[in-house]
Amino acid sequence: METSKIFPSVETPDEGHQNTFKNCDELLPTLPQSKGWWVDQLFQYQGFWIHSLGIRGSMLINDHFKPRPTDIIVATSPKCGTTWLRALLFSIINRASFDFNRHPLRKANPRELVPFFEGIIHKDGSTSFVDGIPSPRLLSTHLPYSLFPTRMTDDTSACRFVYICRDPKDVLVSKWHFANKLRPKGVPPLSLEEVFDLFCKGVSHYGSFWDHVLGYWKASLESPKKVLCLKYEDVKKEPLGCVRKVANFLGVPFTPEEENKEIVEEIVKLCSFENMSNQDVNKSDTRSQENPISNSDFFRKGEVGDWANHLSPQMSEILDQITEQKFQGTGFSFH
Ligand code: A3P
Repeated sequence: METSKIFPSVETPDEGHQNTFKNCDELLPTLPQSKGWWVDQLFQYQGFWIHSLGIRGSMLINDHFKPRPTDIIVATSPKCGTTWLRALLFSIINRASFDFNRHPLRKANPRELVPFFEGIIHKDGSTSFVDGIPSPRLLSTHLPYSLFPTRMTDDTSACRFVYICRDPKDVLVSKWHFANKLRPKGVPPLSLEEVFDLFCKGVSHYGSFWDHVLGYWKASLESPKKVLCLKYEDVKKEPLGCVRKVANFLGVPFTPEEENKEIVEEIVKLCSFENMSNQDVNKSDTRSQENPISNSDFFRKGEVGDWANHLSPQMSEILDQITEQKFQGTGFSFH
């Protein structure tokens, strides 16, 4: 397989990067492959189905990333609330810097404010972009926990991860809609039956949903100061409590003065689906040749339980059964 078909061209990477690129190019053709939902191919890499750019990003992070104790990694399996969590974390961390009425989130989509880690690790062919981000760095990832280097996961002072997951029935429905928006023109849409089958087998972007959750969940039990796991449903139900929990976890709790000024309420309002999906920057079609995903693609319904409008009773039963089996004895559940 020609690697030029897998990757877009990157401007002369530095020497260290070139070695990683070479290793990745050599590895890819040796990995099991499957058709992707919206990209051409997925590769089975260290137990997870990932597209080539994600694998290369993971290898570059392993080979070159220099973590800082202040780094915050926003981690998710796709469609679990990445956009929301990026917005919440950005506004929690930078709450003293901006007026809520003229906040950057009113002008930019959260993915512009919290860069995609495995994507920008090779921006312009070197780590200088990531190295140049001032602390505290906020980086967003879909990579499973086990794919990060031990210098990030084992060293308790290296960085922190905030993870959000969601009922897999809603994840599947959300991912199905997203995939069909992103499929190139002329390519027929994926049927729900087709994606249901792939999702249950773990053949979907960034691998088995359940294994992804378990990786972060177990890490949060072993290292509660390093990894915080949230559920989309909990944030919907109790957004104020969840925002306070995240701020405490990050070591920046809200002061009595901030509570009096209702800063937590401001953050929740700013980041709500209603507010964010109504910002011009998130309503317009921002698709371009370099960036085929539009900001508006990240906002659909933002509800808990929309699966009931799409999945058959049998599909929902099967997904619940897999969830129960996978999480049995782990202390994790979506109830
Ligand atoms: P639905 O397709 O169920 O509506 P991600 O950001 O990980 O790609 O996830 C996208 C999902 O989160 C979509 O779910 C989207 O509508 C929802 N979403 C986006 N912004 C949100 C927000 N501010 N609050 C709640 N849900 C949000």
